[in-house]
Amino acid sequence: MKVISTIEELKSERLNLGSKVGFVPTMGNLHAGHLRLLEHSLKQCEHHIISIFVNPTQFAEGEDFESYPRTLEADLEKIESICPTAIVFTPSTKEIYGSEVVNYFKAPAMADMLEGNLRPGHFDGVLTVVHKLFEIVAPDHAFFGKKDYQQLKLIDDHAKNYFPSLTIHPVEIEREPTGLAMSSRNSYLSQDQKNEAITLYRTLSFIEKKLITEKDLRGSLEYIQQTLEDDERFNYLSIRKQSDLTPPLDISSPLVILGNFQLGQTRLLDNIEVSI
Ligand code: PAF
Repeated sequence: MKVISTIEELKSERLNLGSKVGFVPTMGNLHAGHLRLLEHSLKQCEHHIISIFVNPTQFAEGEDFESYPRTLEADLEKIESICPTAIVFTPSTKEIYGSEVVNYFKAPAMADMLEGNLRPGHFDGVLTVVHKLFEIVAPDHAFFGKKDYQQLKLIDDHAKNYFPSLTIHPVEIEREPTGLAMSSRNSYLSQDQKNEAITLYRTLSFIEKKLITEKDLRGSLEYIQQTLEDDERFNYLSIRKQSDLTPPLDISSPLVILGNFQLGQTRLLDNIEVSI
């Protein structure tokens, strides 16, 4: 395994790799969900590059940039255990942004709803750093988890526009046995909060079953409206079209149920895709 922190060195390593390079961008604090992304790269690619970079521009003022868990040693051990030939890119903020830590992209309208509504500017930061990383790493394949569904859609669209030869692979959500979606931010939760957090997945699953069995979009939307009124822990709960995340008029197109759940300072994300 090679750990590289400069763009120059990464680019010169990349020259020796040819095609079939798989890339897994992360902010570190790796859990089973990240390792699943790496496993997908192992199955489909010959070379594997993982980046670990906590990107300041995707955190708003007052969010958890400073306290975001940084666990480099443990992360490297986990990567080594499943992919001893991996290249791990661990740049500094200066290496990625130079002296001006600013966003170069204004994310399109799809970024303004759901997460973007809660975190204005968040996706400008995500697209800026992902664009920079794609330019540096020049991967043939890149792997992203479906937990960050809106992020995945925006990156997929961005890649189609700017990196047409790159294939974006969506990877299924990795869950705890309780159903809780794995996330680095779960480490902020107390045991009691972890027990509470299961409500998010249970609610999404309930709506999924309701949609499948009753095939009644209006009934499900009313249930959502009632849940939002009754349970203020939900920052949002919504049924959208998978294609562009706009609200569906009927159930004929593939749908996704998305939720964001607040426990203390921590916001948890989850979603379930449904095709009826
Ligand atoms: O999903 C994440 O961990 C981050 O948003 C990403 C894609 C690595 C960009 O910083």
